[in-house]
Amino acid sequence: MSAATDHLDAYWMPFTANRDFKKKPRIIKAASGHHYTANDGTRLYDTFSGLWTSGLGHCHPKIVAAVQAQVAELDYCMTFQVTNDKAVALAERVVGMAPEGFSHCFFTNSGSESVDTALKIALGYHGARGEGNRTRLIGRERGYHGVNFGGMSVGGIAPNRKAFSACLLPGVDHIRHTLDIGQNAFSRGLPQHGANLAEDLVRLCTLHGSSNIAAVIVEPVAGSTGVLPPPVGYLERLREICDAHGILLIFDEVITAFGRLAKPFGAQRLGVLPDIITIAKGLTNGVIPMGAVLVRDSVYDAFMQGPESMIELFHGYTYSGHPVAAAAGLATMDVYEEEGTFEQAASLEQHFEDLLHSFSDHKHVIDVRNFGLMGAIEMAPRKGAPGARGSEAHKKCFWDENLVIRNGMDTLQFSPFLNSDPDEMQQSFAAIRRVLDSIE
Ligand SMILES: Cc1ncc(COP(=O)(O)O)c(C=O)c1O
Repeated sequence: MSAATDHLDAYWMPFTANRDFKKKPRIIKAASGHHYTANDGTRLYDTFSGLWTSGLGHCHPKIVAAVQAQVAELDYCMTFQVTNDKAVALAERVVGMAPEGFSHCFFTNSGSESVDTALKIALGYHGARGEGNRTRLIGRERGYHGVNFGGMSVGGIAPNRKAFSACLLPGVDHIRHTLDIGQNAFSRGLPQHGANLAEDLVRLCTLHGSSNIAAVIVEPVAGSTGVLPPPVGYLERLREICDAHGILLIFDEVITAFGRLAKPFGAQRLGVLPDIITIAKGLTNGVIPMGAVLVRDSVYDAFMQGPESMIELFHGYTYSGHPVAAAAGLATMDVYEEEGTFEQAASLEQHFEDLLHSFSDHKHVIDVRNFGLMGAIEMAPRKGAPGARGSEAHKKCFWDENLVIRNGMDTLQFSPFLNSDPDEMQQSFAAIRRVLDSIE
């Protein structure tokens, strides 16, 4: 490839097998709409809309223009003690789309920061109400909540935790995950079996004493672990248990917000309201890093006590509410509204589901799962080489079919554009089929 690859050694890539990658790098230099352009000029179709980020497609002209204008107008301004007009406007815009009773929004720069912020807010909330003993945090096995110490601790993806196990937050426990291929294989939409798994929270309440538990955090649909839609009735039951025990329920909606489930927030699609919501990715269509935490009014109000001249939450980032990110966010919200993106997403769901489930008969495939525009095709691992089949599928898609796909071990994950062309979707799955047919 070109000169860019000659100097690749300096670059330590995230969540990548660096040595393997650098033998034959896959480098993107441009993007437009639903396609990337590789370093050698090849156009590649993106089946993952960035990294669940770019539902509107890449380089959307309205967002690009808003960013260009903003960076020339106000490049940066601190948001401790002063702030900027775009951050103010975006907070109002986002809470305007949120479930009722979520009137406040705290900005971060990523999903990981949103999660750690949410955990701190949960602890601070209980402290402010005189229940400072509520310090335990509960996550779920197979949950992904980013890579900072808080999110890693409540997260439940074993390899992400293993190397750091001695340094995880104390006082964290996990409820069981909800994947049950034995009973739910090839479910379309929410699986029928597994609501009872929410009872695992009752077990932890008994074990730790529910009055010691601050919050439970789950992804409403688990994404990075390989798309696990919640069993029918499961989230409702979690909500009931949290209510019964005074525990805050946090939905990590870093993936599920902004149309992935055809609504602004997954909570609205699933009909279960948490107390705190974390977002990122679709907030700016991935164009500029930005995240946020939305809280119920009761949570916000608990902090707004004491002398008015005092800081209520000793927390924030240099780039919280960055004006260029906020401008990207505002333009993104405009496009969602003007183009009817969430309705577009809803209209693609059946087609997407049918394409995914057409793999149910494939010799390598042991499960297909989907909800909204999130989907997964899980392949059996090769004997003695877990992940090899998924990795080979990824590379073959790139090199042979001009397709960027995402694999987590042997599970192929899909996050199509919210405004996908149905024919392009169909062609991409036909190409994936060719690839799966061609590998051992
Ligand atoms: C549910 C969830 N939470 C948190 C994160 C972490 O976000 P980031 O990589 O922006 O820190 C992710 C990233 O994929 C995610 O899917």
